[in-house]
Amino acid sequence: MQTDSSFTFVLFGGTGDLSMRKILPALYEAHRAGGMLADSGKIVAVARHIEDRGEYLQWVNEHVKPHVSKNGLDETAWASFLARIEFAKIDLGNPDDFVLLRDAIKDLPGIRVFYLATGPSLFVPICHALASVGLNANSRIVLEKPLGYDLKSSNAINDAVGEIFAEEQIYRIDHYLGKEPVQNLLALRFGNVLFEPMWRREWVESIQITIAEELGVEARGDFYDNTGALRDMVQNHLLQLLSIVAMEPPHSMDSDSVRDEKLRVLRALKPIDPRDIGKVAVRGQYHSGVIRGTAVPAYATEAGVKPDSATETFVALKVEIENWRWAGVPFFLRTGKRLADRVAEIVVNFRAVPHSALGASALRAGANRLVIRLQPNETIRLYCLAKQPGEGMNLASVHLDLAFDQFFREGQMEAYQLLLLDVINGRLALFVRRDEQEAAWRWVEPILDEWKTSTKPPKPYASGTWGPAAASAMLAQHGTCWLEEEN
Ligand code: BG6
Repeated sequence: MQTDSSFTFVLFGGTGDLSMRKILPALYEAHRAGGMLADSGKIVAVARHIEDRGEYLQWVNEHVKPHVSKNGLDETAWASFLARIEFAKIDLGNPDDFVLLRDAIKDLPGIRVFYLATGPSLFVPICHALASVGLNANSRIVLEKPLGYDLKSSNAINDAVGEIFAEEQIYRIDHYLGKEPVQNLLALRFGNVLFEPMWRREWVESIQITIAEELGVEARGDFYDNTGALRDMVQNHLLQLLSIVAMEPPHSMDSDSVRDEKLRVLRALKPIDPRDIGKVAVRGQYHSGVIRGTAVPAYATEAGVKPDSATETFVALKVEIENWRWAGVPFFLRTGKRLADRVAEIVVNFRAVPHSALGASALRAGANRLVIRLQPNETIRLYCLAKQPGEGMNLASVHLDLAFDQFFREGQMEAYQLLLLDVINGRLALFVRRDEQEAAWRWVEPILDEWKTSTKPPKPYASGTWGPAAASAMLAQHGTCWLEEEN
């Protein structure tokens, strides 16, 4: 893909964790691939505690290079990547410094992208400061999550940013939307005639969406303890995945057609009655345990976490969608830290055949299932029943696989790379529109409120397991179980 879209990519939070692990490595990969970034495109990193460009490049060499080396570093490409990087020492609290920024970038070509890889409390001050020096024109702004803490605070940020930038200039990142298999789900559903007729209540029994992590809160204890899994993962990533799975076919793939359909799903989520929360939501917190042979500590003893913390590190939910396509079909969502495995997947359980001429084994579980594995080993796998070789009609579960790395040996991109290219090229479809975000906050708020005041602490689970037993019991009530419990 050749591009001539020139750009000036201004990275606020230039020495932050996200810049180090995700944003700069993604820009490097796009640069290394060749043809994805216009030659004239520049990256302007903004930081306060670094004096000049030389010192910043040293920081990049020390901290970013190790993250890009995993695919084998191309030293020539690395050197030319560094040549794209400029630096601006800016104190975000000092509006005068933005005059310096404006002067530094005024002669640079192309669209301006302001990427706010900072805490959300800085979003509004940065936007005001940009506007005060006229930098909100001919520009795009990228907002990282968390965008607010609840509906009210998210609205406050969106109102303030919205006074300065038009909605078409605002790119709210949810990096799960940049994962290739998520977009492949759209291709699978809307590019093939096979699945769409069956993608509805008549043929689907239940759907599970899991994002499980082995990692704990790492160095983010302080942030996480004030956030919890519901805000960190459910309000955004899980509800976005749910809306992609459940949406109606859009009129086209243009950004508003896709986002309109996702919004319809979010607005159709059955509101949670606070009295039912115990039945449809499970919250847990990890205790000590063993992950892949290594002992790991309890959440409450992690740095930055209050010892009596009631913050959830695990959530499982039963969600319903009130529309004709999905009425009565339970969607089970689950996410947690320090679980038994790192896996993100969507499981569509189709109904059993209505009558089996092939005997009872044709009705058993393990077939009529589609599993979309987002990570690791991105695959779409369709489980079917087949006859076992030999005498008699004995059936066994077999699967048809679309393993992306076998079909497409080249061109796979990390989510951030894909999304950053979308920002530079002005493609909004994979970014969250304000109304989607509001609908998602509105839906999770009764749970947030209930848990805030509840006297019942989160249910404990040992690290290295699949979370509290209550999460399994919730599915058992619907005659089903989590995928790993079947194996
Ligand atoms: C982030 C969360 O949005 O997603 C983290 O803040 C979480 O807590 C991460 O670890 C998971 O993303 P991925 O792509 O590693 O599954």
